[in-house]
Amino acid sequence: MTHPNLLILDHPLIQQKLYYLRSKKSNNLSFRNMLDEISALMVYEVTRDLPVDERDVETPLEITTGYVLSKKVTLVPILRAGLAMCDGILKLIPQARVGHLGLYRDKYSLKPVEYYSKFPSDMNDSEVIIIDPMLATGGSAVAAVDFVKKTGVRNIRFVCLVASPEGVKLMAEHHGDVPIYTAALDRQLNEHGYILPGLGDAGDRIYGTE
Ligand code: PRP
Ligand code: URA
Repeated sequence: MTHPNLLILDHPLIQQKLYYLRSKKSNNLSFRNMLDEISALMVYEVTRDLPVDERDVETPLEITTGYVLSKKVTLVPILRAGLAMCDGILKLIPQARVGHLGLYRDKYSLKPVEYYSKFPSDMNDSEVIIIDPMLATGGSAVAAVDFVKKTGVRNIRFVCLVASPEGVKLMAEHHGDVPIYTAALDRQLNEHGYILPGLGDAGDRIYGTE
């Protein structure tokens, strides 16, 4: 099964930055910088169909009609790695609120374990963008969407850098209504649940842990 709402962002600038993110020659600093830049480029496409309201605006010469976002936007980075994509997105949507969701993937079961959450209290009515660079088995993404849906939110989109066919399938089975935006759909997972060819362990590459 493929996902009914999978969008691969094939813009040349996004693809070039992904090239450097994949490279094992990129150190922690350049990996973080590149992630910041690619996130800002991706959010441009991710937010393309956000609803807008017409509003009068007075230019120095006359009154005309402009457009503003109809709804608040809430970013939900999945800790740790998702956090590193947040600043790039906030550069373009500075008024967005941020709800944090801490999940890590158990090394052996590969199942997500929740350890932290803190969301804006009035998130229900906002457009929510869940952020995580890696969609591997899909367990973390499915758990994150479950979690956000439980708060009553219905308008959710999921952004990642690299997706696997397995992760996309799991999301389709559980959350076919949530669009997935990714820079690449890779070949497969390895026996440890890592994406091939992928870019390695995103959290470790961002924060220099291993
Ligand atoms: C990574 C990644 C996702 C998850 C994806 O996080 O950032 O959250 O794995 O894997 P899945 O699709 O199989 O669930 P990790 O669990 O390594 O935690 P970290 O961000 O703290 O390093
Ligand atoms: N998490 C990562 O950081 N990388 C993968 O390839 C899979 C899960």
